[in-house]
Amino acid sequence: MPYRRTTLSKFIIEDQRRAAAPEPELTSLLNDIQTACKLIAVAASRGGIAVPGDTRAPAVETAVNVQGEQQKPLDVIANDIMIGTCEWGGQLAGMVSEEMEQPYEIPAVYPRGRYLLVFDPLDGSSNIDVNMPVGTIFSVLRCPEGVTAPGLEHFLQPGTAQVAAGYAIYGPTAMLVLTLGAGVHGFTLDPEIGAFTLTHPDMAIPPDSHEFAVNVSNERFWEPPVRRYVDECVEGTAGVRGVDFNMRWIASMVAEVHRILVRGGLFMYPRDAKDPSKPGRLRLMYEANPMAMIVEQAGGAASTGRGRILELAPAEIHQRVPVILGSRSEVERLVRYHAEYDAGEDAPFKTPLFNARSLFRTA
Ligand code: F6P
Repeated sequence: MPYRRTTLSKFIIEDQRRAAAPEPELTSLLNDIQTACKLIAVAASRGGIAVPGDTRAPAVETAVNVQGEQQKPLDVIANDIMIGTCEWGGQLAGMVSEEMEQPYEIPAVYPRGRYLLVFDPLDGSSNIDVNMPVGTIFSVLRCPEGVTAPGLEHFLQPGTAQVAAGYAIYGPTAMLVLTLGAGVHGFTLDPEIGAFTLTHPDMAIPPDSHEFAVNVSNERFWEPPVRRYVDECVEGTAGVRGVDFNMRWIASMVAEVHRILVRGGLFMYPRDAKDPSKPGRLRLMYEANPMAMIVEQAGGAASTGRGRILELAPAEIHQRVPVILGSRSEVERLVRYHAEYDAGEDAPFKTPLFNARSLFRTA
């Protein structure tokens, strides 16, 4: 019966009831985050009509953000929604957002709490103009004991320290996917009652898969182990893998990770030589870490190619890292290729796919 369904609010309360050391403030914080995601879902679904509740669609001021990317109005709206919905409740000591260069200080009018919230308010925002899926990614950390005014250094915790991580995806349906460190659960927004409702309990990534996602236009900048992996996938039944692979690229990390949680596969934005000042494209604190926690909790793996993402010691809040995540066996294979390459043990790099017979002909 519909009234017996588990809403996200009920799920969180019951989870905390079972916890050895319940954290009521975490329950309130997660409730505020889900409210923010509902508001962003409404804003995203209104597209060009823009601001919820205001059909006059006032202009939203945008700028080039700290990443050097041109903000979209919805980036700014989503950021304001996350801040406005999560700052007042007394659970947070501070926030870090993709859209803000410095950590956001909780205004003095509000009490400060024991958690830090790190988020990307609107991931994949280049997809907005073309009406493709976008999402919100968040990570909850503990504020170090005794700190009430956290500085940059207090946010720089490894992914293993995350208390909770999740994302909302705004696609044909809005969903919120959450881990509190014991499994991954997916909730679909029921528009009739305005509640995220448990539809995907205990999400588990299939250990093997034959689907990969990577922006192939960067191929010439990749390292040899990545080229080797992709070449072998593309060779399909004609190559060493002996099986045909499928490829997808949505250009929205949230959508790619969501697909992998549902049907497996490998997603990567590997290290490349396009801009030597950037060791990767994706951001550690609010993209790689929360997604790595979710993927590992769902039985998958997440690596830079040379180390577990969750064990990286962050040096900067907007740090970029290489990301390879998804079905365990595929991630492990690519990690092995990196190790073989670094040790000089891999087969000489040769590929029929990048020569005259290639789809990706280089000459
Ligand atoms: O970091 C933002 C992001 O939009 C990710 O969500 C996505 O995976 C990637 O960048 C897309 O990159 P590209 O523009 O190279 O396709």
